[in-house]
Amino acid sequence: MACRICSGRLHPFADFGRQPLSDAFVAPGDPGEEFSFHLAAGVCENCSMAQLLEEVPRERMFHAGYPYLSSGSSVMREHFGNLAERLLATELAGPDPFVVELGCNDGAMLSVVAGAGVRHLGVEPSGGVADLAAARGVRVRKDFFEADTAAAVLAEDGPADVVYAANTLCHIPYLDSIMAGVDALLRPGGVFVFEDPYLGDIVERASFDQIYDEHFYFFTATSVRAMARRHGFELVDVERLPVHGGEVRYTLARRGARTPAPAVAGLLAAEEAAALCDPATLRGFAARVAHNRDRLVTLLGALREEGARVYGYGATAKSATVLTYCGIGPELVSLVTDTTPAKQGRLTPGSHIPVRGPEAFADPYPDYALLLAWNHAEEIMAKEAGFGRAGGTWILYVPEVHLVRA
Ligand code: SAH
Ligand code: TYD
Ligand code: ZN
Repeated sequence: MACRICSGRLHPFADFGRQPLSDAFVAPGDPGEEFSFHLAAGVCENCSMAQLLEEVPRERMFHAGYPYLSSGSSVMREHFGNLAERLLATELAGPDPFVVELGCNDGAMLSVVAGAGVRHLGVEPSGGVADLAAARGVRVRKDFFEADTAAAVLAEDGPADVVYAANTLCHIPYLDSIMAGVDALLRPGGVFVFEDPYLGDIVERASFDQIYDEHFYFFTATSVRAMARRHGFELVDVERLPVHGGEVRYTLARRGARTPAPAVAGLLAAEEAAALCDPATLRGFAARVAHNRDRLVTLLGALREEGARVYGYGATAKSATVLTYCGIGPELVSLVTDTTPAKQGRLTPGSHIPVRGPEAFADPYPDYALLLAWNHAEEIMAKEAGFGRAGGTWILYVPEVHLVRA
């Protein structure tokens, strides 16, 4: 098996078997056979990039019915609002600035830029969420970003000061085409800023459910620097972010254009000291994951024996990996509650657990709730104080299986 970026040899480190598409929620009564693929990850011995071994065609994942909404979390709305304000005050403070966002989704970030009257463009292939962004005043191009798209944007709008992507670059296997596009589109002194789940946090927290069809790459400073250098860019800043279970925001600039911040050398050194990209380290992570799976399955089996009622909280894309890998179906978790309209009334992919709106959670409250949206734990636990008053208990499986009184 060869690295998608540099053709170097891949060392497989985790294998979750056959999996459904994580955002392909099933209409009840739909007789169609679900698409499945082999979910496994490896790390490149040459460029250190951790990645999936099988690629799902992009049109199967990102289309008009793509259900994920960036604005579904108040913490994330604030996160993107803050980032927009920061960009407006720094990189976008010059005359007539222009920012392009890849994967703008429902406009959580760009709606703030639009509100400030600054030139912008969201490139978003999923039509439904792109329409939501447009309805909020965001200028959107319904397209996959790649080299050809960049050329068309450049011809229409001229060069960009900033290209930004959140939780999108790691979704894109064809990074060569992306980097060629960014290189074409970005003005000479411009920056490419992107933030994605950090492999260091995934390993530390054993958050194996960050591995699913849409997450093709698991970035580190080491692998991002190598990827950037192939295209004449340098990694000039890194910032650890608390959102989504631990992410890093990377800033790339053309080589020689900016002096790297000290944080870059710091994170590179920490990754080397932890042997983060070493296949042995990653296989150790996979062993902890298998142990956690056994504990979770045992716990849910015991709760069923007791006759306890267990719901899932948050029909996340991540949960497809947990539910399928652990063999959890409606007999163990009878429903999953979620605020996303396009997921409600459907069944979770593969595991076929009914998804219901938030009102179903309290009607009546279950005894236990498996927190599938554990990356939003603080926000959710604060808002579900009623679950605690009803005597409920949260089940968490990250960083290990444990119970929390609500
Ligand atoms: N930036 C948002 C959305 C992340 S979900 C957030 O952080 O919440 C990933 C998004 O990337 C989806 O909306 C998907 O449609 C989009 N996407 C996938 N491939 C893309 C590509 N090649 N170019 C631009 N967007 C893409
Ligand atoms: P998220 O973990 O952000 O992403 P992914 O799908 O990529 O794993 O998804 C959070 C899901 O949880 C989303 O479907 C919305 C839902 N949700 C709730 O139902 N209630 C809440 O309070 C929050 C914050 C999210
Ligand atoms: Zn490689």
